[in-house]
Amino acid sequence: SAIAFGLDAPFEIEYHDSFGSTNDRARDLAVEGRSDIAIVTDEQTGARGRLERQWTAPSGGVWMSLLVRPDRPPAHVPVFTLAAAVATTRAAREAGVDAHIKWPNDVLVGDGGGPDAADSVATGRGGRKLAGVLTEMEGEADRVSWLIVGIGVNANVDTADLPPGATSIREEVGDVDRRAFVQRLLEEFHALRADTEAVLPAWREYASTLGRRVRVETPGGTVEGEAVDVRFPGALVVRTDDGEEVVHAGDCEHLRSA
Ligand code: BTN
Repeated sequence: SAIAFGLDAPFEIEYHDSFGSTNDRARDLAVEGRSDIAIVTDEQTGARGRLERQWTAPSGGVWMSLLVRPDRPPAHVPVFTLAAAVATTRAAREAGVDAHIKWPNDVLVGDGGGPDAADSVATGRGGRKLAGVLTEMEGEADRVSWLIVGIGVNANVDTADLPPGATSIREEVGDVDRRAFVQRLLEEFHALRADTEAVLPAWREYASTLGRRVRVETPGGTVEGEAVDVRFPGALVVRTDDGEEVVHAGDCEHLRSA
C-alpha cells in the first residue's frame, strides 16, 4: 500500500513497501495526468534495467521513479538521464562512497578501470556497479509529454543478494539513511532539471569513461576507441582509428589501457 514518505522534497512522494516496477506505477500516474511525483519502494518484484535486462531490487535499496514533464523536445531527454546519474553520484559521495559515472548513466564505485585494473569493468574489477538509471518517455515530435526517470541504487543491501559485479552502499561504507539519501538526490535532480547547462560539466567531473579506451555496442555496430568527451544531449565522442564517432546510445565497456 502507498503511504506518504514525509520528506520536504521538491517532489510529491508516494512510498510502497513492495511494488512490481516503480516505472510502471509512474506510467499509470502519467496517464492520469500527474507530474512531479516520485514513486519510492523498499523492494521491487519485477524491476527492469536498460536494454531489456532484469534488475535485482531486494528490500533495503533505493528504488524510485521520478515523473516529470519537461518543456523540451524528445531529443533532449538524455540530458535528464545524465542529470539523474549526476544527482545519484552526489548523494552517494555525500554518503562517503567513491562514486563515478560510466557512460551514459551507470554509477560505479572505484574509478572504473585503468592501467592497474586487471581487466575490464565487466569482470567486476576496477568498477563495481552501485546504481543505474532507466528512462522511459512519451512525446510528440517537438515536446515531451511525460518522462519517467527510474533510478535504482543498491543501498542497504547485501552484495550476496545482487548480481556479480554489483556493490552496495552497505558493502562500501555501511548503511545509509535512505530518507536523507532520497532527499539529497531529489534536490540535486531538481536543481539540474532547472539548469540543464550545468549537467554536462558535472557529468564530466564525475565520469570515469573519459580518457579511457572503450568498446560500445551500439544499435549500428561496435565502436572501439578512446572516449574523449560527452556532447549534448548526452552522446559519447569516441576517437577511433578512422576519426571521431558520436555515439548516442549503447552499452559501454571500459577496456584495459593498451
Ligand atoms: C540499469 O540497467 O542500469 C538501469 C536500472 C534501473 C533500475 C530502476 S529501480 C527503479 C526503476 N524501476 C524499474 O523497474 N527500474 C528502475
